[in-house]
Amino acid sequence: MLKSISLQNFRSYEKQEFSFGNTTLIVGPNTSGKTNLIEGIYLLSNGKSFRTDKDIQMIRFGKEIGRVKARLQTPEPARQSPDGSIQMADGRSDGGQGIIEDNELEIVITNGLVNGKSQYKKFLVNGVAKRRVDFASNFSAVLFSPQDLDIIIDSPSLRRSFLDEVLEQTDRSYRVSLISYTKALRQRNALLELLREGKTLPAGRRELEYWDNLVIENGGIIILKREEFIKFANSQNKDIFDFTINYDKSVISRERLLQYEAQEVLAGVTLVGPHRDDFSVFMSNGKNTSHDVKYFGSRGQQRLVILQLKVLELLFIEKALGKRPTLILDDIFSELDSGHINLIFDQIGKQQTILTTTHEEFIPKKLLNKMKVLHFSKE
Ligand SMILES: Nc1ncnc2c1ncn2[C@@H]1O[C@H](COP(=O)(O)OP(=O)(O)OP(=O)(O)O)[C@@H](O)[C@H]1O
Ligand SMILES: [Mg+2]
Repeated sequence: MLKSISLQNFRSYEKQEFSFGNTTLIVGPNTSGKTNLIEGIYLLSNGKSFRTDKDIQMIRFGKEIGRVKARLQTPEPARQSPDGSIQMADGRSDGGQGIIEDNELEIVITNGLVNGKSQYKKFLVNGVAKRRVDFASNFSAVLFSPQDLDIIIDSPSLRRSFLDEVLEQTDRSYRVSLISYTKALRQRNALLELLREGKTLPAGRRELEYWDNLVIENGGIIILKREEFIKFANSQNKDIFDFTINYDKSVISRERLLQYEAQEVLAGVTLVGPHRDDFSVFMSNGKNTSHDVKYFGSRGQQRLVILQLKVLELLFIEKALGKRPTLILDDIFSELDSGHINLIFDQIGKQQTILTTTHEEFIPKKLLNKMKVLHFSKE
């Protein structure tokens, strides 16, 4: 659970600290810094911004270093003993909260000009430097923001990002493979581009083979893990909206690379692999027929699918890590009708939840009384 966060030269914040309860509501007008705070919180979960892939954009205008520091409270996970009873780490079996650990997470973002170092981000846990792949296992969160509402209808890259978001939180090997795959793909594409231009490769054809091996190995891991999540999603009860996900994977293997060799040289890019994956969502219409929600679903049905996908993301992370992630809802109430809003309210209270809104009126009084409310105003 996220107890507090301090933002320093981060986006619009010069220096400010916030503390959170089980459910925290942030109310403020446009441009009051709500999404900036959410960005800082989500950054702690996987070390990446959900808004930009250019880290320096997160540093406050005119500054060189931005900082996000947070305190977490982590209950010792309960273990299930063979007889099915819940055992705490210290041998108690009362099922209550175990030993509470207090951890401090910190991310330092630099503009690359500080001390002549080219490193842009530094990750620390309790003051000890970590690699991003290790840092990301400390805090997990599921974010739902208005841009998610387009996952179903927008380009495949949004759907791939969704899969990455889920799996990067639960699986270190996925994080490692994704980094290696992305790097190898970039190198491989650069060589293919040279071939397309009719140039010869500096170290001959063998150079391509080296990257082939890396994309095959890491691409295979990525596809396998994506398959695992989709299998999980398809096996779960879905009480918001029932659907089946069809994973349209782009298998990568030596044979496939060989098969596409000529086309790849013509195109100057890698044509197979998980960077070309997609998935579609089918709703069943009874009578054994099913239809792709992207083409046949109403806007409302498409949104229900997203809500359900987010709940599945929560469940998958909970299953993988043994604890429920923090749920973050950034300004989604203005985008949804009251029926959908109520479905979201059903999810609050099952885990730590942080919500933002421009209008407090969206929140029923009964719920509001149980929330910690932070009021933001325009600077
Ligand atoms: N790097 C930065 N340095 C300083 N200010 C920034 C930086 N990046 C963004 N801002 C500013 O931060 C302000 C607050 O943005 P934010 O997205 O948090 O608002 P918000 O409260 O979510 O508003 P809305 O309700 O419109 O979504 C904006 O005016 C934006 O221009
Ligand atoms: Mg916002």
